[in-house]
Amino acid sequence: MSDQVKMTAMNYASDRPAAENPVKIMDLSLRDGHQSLFATRGRTEDMIPVAEMMDEVGFWAIETWGGATFDTMHRFLNEDPWERLRTLKRYIKKTPFSMLLRAQNLVGYRNYADDLATAFVERAAENGMDIFRTFDALNDYRNFETVVKQIKKSGKHFQGCICYSLTEPRLGGDVYNEKYYVDRAKALDDMGADSICIKDMAGLIAPYDAYNLVKALKAVTKTPIHLHSHFTSGMASMSHLKAIEAGCDIIDTCMTPYAYRTAHPAVEPLVMSLLGTNRDTGFDIKKLFAINEVLEREVMPKYMHLLDNSKCSIIDINVLLHQTPGGMLSNLVNQLREMDKLDKIDDVFAELPKVRKDLGQIPLVTPTSQIVGIQTVNNVLFDTPEERYKMITGQVKDLCYGLYGKTAVPINPEVQKKALKGYARGEEPITCRPAEVLEPEMEKAKKEIGDLAKDIDDLVLYAIYPVTGKKFLEWKYGVTPAPPEVMPITLDDVKKRDELVAKAKAGKLVEPKAAAPAKSENIRTFNVFVDSEYFSVEVDPTGEFQPMAMPAAAPRAAAAPKAAAAAAPAAAAPAAAAPKAAAAPAPAVEGGTPLLAPMPGMVIKNCVNVGDAVKTGDPLVILEAMKMENSLGAPCDGTVKAFYFGSGDSVAKDTVLAVIG
Ligand code: CO
Repeated sequence: MSDQVKMTAMNYASDRPAAENPVKIMDLSLRDGHQSLFATRGRTEDMIPVAEMMDEVGFWAIETWGGATFDTMHRFLNEDPWERLRTLKRYIKKTPFSMLLRAQNLVGYRNYADDLATAFVERAAENGMDIFRTFDALNDYRNFETVVKQIKKSGKHFQGCICYSLTEPRLGGDVYNEKYYVDRAKALDDMGADSICIKDMAGLIAPYDAYNLVKALKAVTKTPIHLHSHFTSGMASMSHLKAIEAGCDIIDTCMTPYAYRTAHPAVEPLVMSLLGTNRDTGFDIKKLFAINEVLEREVMPKYMHLLDNSKCSIIDINVLLHQTPGGMLSNLVNQLREMDKLDKIDDVFAELPKVRKDLGQIPLVTPTSQIVGIQTVNNVLFDTPEERYKMITGQVKDLCYGLYGKTAVPINPEVQKKALKGYARGEEPITCRPAEVLEPEMEKAKKEIGDLAKDIDDLVLYAIYPVTGKKFLEWKYGVTPAPPEVMPITLDDVKKRDELVAKAKAGKLVEPKAAAPAKSENIRTFNVFVDSEYFSVEVDPTGEFQPMAMPAAAPRAAAAPKAAAAAAPAAAAPAAAAPKAAAAPAPAVEGGTPLLAPMPGMVIKNCVNVGDAVKTGDPLVILEAMKMENSLGAPCDGTVKAFYFGSGDSVAKDTVLAVIG
C-alpha cells in the first residue's frame, strides 16, 4: 500500500471519522451508465424512484444529462430532454448536476454555429445544469471557446476534458505520450478550467499509466483531477485505485446495476476498498445498498432485454487488441449485420488503424469514433482494388476540410484531396477555429420551424436535430400521434412478456383460430426465442388500450432505421406516424435507371427536384446511416423521373430511392 493511503479506522458505520482527503465521487448511472449498457434508453420515470435517495449519498455530482441522452430521448423515448432536467431537479436538490457537453458539437454530431452553441449552454444552465464536462473529440480547445464563455457567464462549473487516446498498447509513442497530456492540461488551466478530466471513453488507461499520468498532472496544476474510465477492457477498477494513490481528486462510478461491462466500475467496492483510509469516501454503504434494491426491483426488469447478453464475458478484449471503444465496436458490428456482411469484421479491424492514420490519428470518441468507424466499413464494403475511399461520408469530408478542428497529426494529403473534390465549402481546407466559417443558425431554424417551436428550448432542440426534432415537436404538440414503439414499457408489460416466454417454453402457444377477431391497430409483435426455436407472437390488448412499448426492436440507437422500417407494416402502426413503407418496391418507371440505397438508413434530403437534369455522380440523395451522412450520386446522366422518399423516411438496403430517365 502506498504511503498516501493509510488506514486510520476500521469503523463500518457512516459516522466514522472523516478522512483527511476523501475521494470525491461522481455517479454516472443516470447518464453514462444506461447509455453504455442500455442504449441510452433510461426514462425519467425510472430515475425518480431513486432520485431522492441518491441525493442523500454525498456524491460530488450526479451526471444526469448530455452525451446521447438528448438525441435518444426525443428520437426514441418521446421525452422532452429539457423536461428531464427540470423534473430531476425537483427530487435532487443538494447534489450538483453534471452533463457531458461535446463542446461545439453540443449534444450532436457536428460543429454548430456560435449562436446555437451559446443558446444551448445558456438554456442548459437555466434548466438546472451545474457542471459542464466539456470535451472535444480532437482535443482542439478552440472548439471550447464559445461554450466556455457562456458556461462562465452563466456562473457554472467548467470541467475541461482531455480525451485519452493511444496509438500504442500503453501510454507513449510519438503522439499520445505524457507530454501530450501535460500540455493539454496546461491549456485547460489557461482557459480557466474548474476541474480537469482524463476522459478514458474506451477503457484504455492501464493502472500504472493512470498512476504516472495523475502524478504528472498533479505536478503541473492545482486544479482538481477527475478520472473517467470505462470498464470495457476490465482495467478501470485497478486504474481507479492507482489514480487515487497518485492523488486523483474525483472518480466516476455507477450504482451496481448500471456498472461494469462497457459502463464503469461500481461505487460500492471502491467505498469498501477505501474504508478507513485517508481517502475514505465517507459514504454509507447501507444507503447504496438500499438504492440498488429499488433499482433491481422496480427499474431493471424494464431494461434487461436491452443488455447485450450475446456473450458470457463482461469484458471486451478487442479494446486491448484494437483500441476500439466498446460502443464503436457494437456500431460496426450492427452496421455489418444490417448489410449481411458480418464475415468482414476482421477486414474492418485491419482497415481501422489505416483509416484512423489517414484521418490524422484522431482520438476515437463520439463523433470521431463513428466517423472513422463508418468510413472504415464503407472502405471495406465499397472499395475496389483500383480505387480506395470510393464512398466518402459527408462527415469525413467535413473533417478533411477542418470543420472539426485540428487533427493530432496532418491528414493524408491524398485522402484529403479526394474528399474535398467538389466539396461545397471549397477544396482548400481551413486552419481557423471551425465555427468561424459557420453561418448563424438560430434565425434560420426559427424561420423553418415556425410556430411548432413554442419556446426557446423547442427551437434549440429543432436547430440541433432538424429532422427528428421536428418529428418530436409534432408528437409533443399532438400534430401527429407518437408511434407505439416510443411509449414506455411497464412492469406489467414485462410480466406479460415473461408469461408468453414461459408459455412458449411449455409448448402452449397455439395458432390463432380461423374465427379470430380482426386485429386492431394496437397489435404488437413479440419475437420469442426458446433455445434454437423461434416464435413470432402477436398480442392485441383488449379493453382499455395501454400501449406496450417494445423498444427491443431497436436495441442500439444506431440500429433505428432498420427497426423503424421493420415495424412499419401498414396495418400495424397508426398510419399518420408510420414511416412510409420503406422496403416496398418502388413503382416501375419506364426506361429508367434506379438509384438503390447501398445501406439501410434514413433519407435526410433529396438534393435536386424531379425533372432536373443531372450528370453521373451528381448528389441525388443524402442518406444517413449510423448517424453518418452519405451523398448518393446519380447512377447515370439524365433527368430525374422520380424520388420515392422524403426527409425522415427510413429505407432498407437496396430500396429504390430515385429513378433517372
Ligand atoms: Co463515458
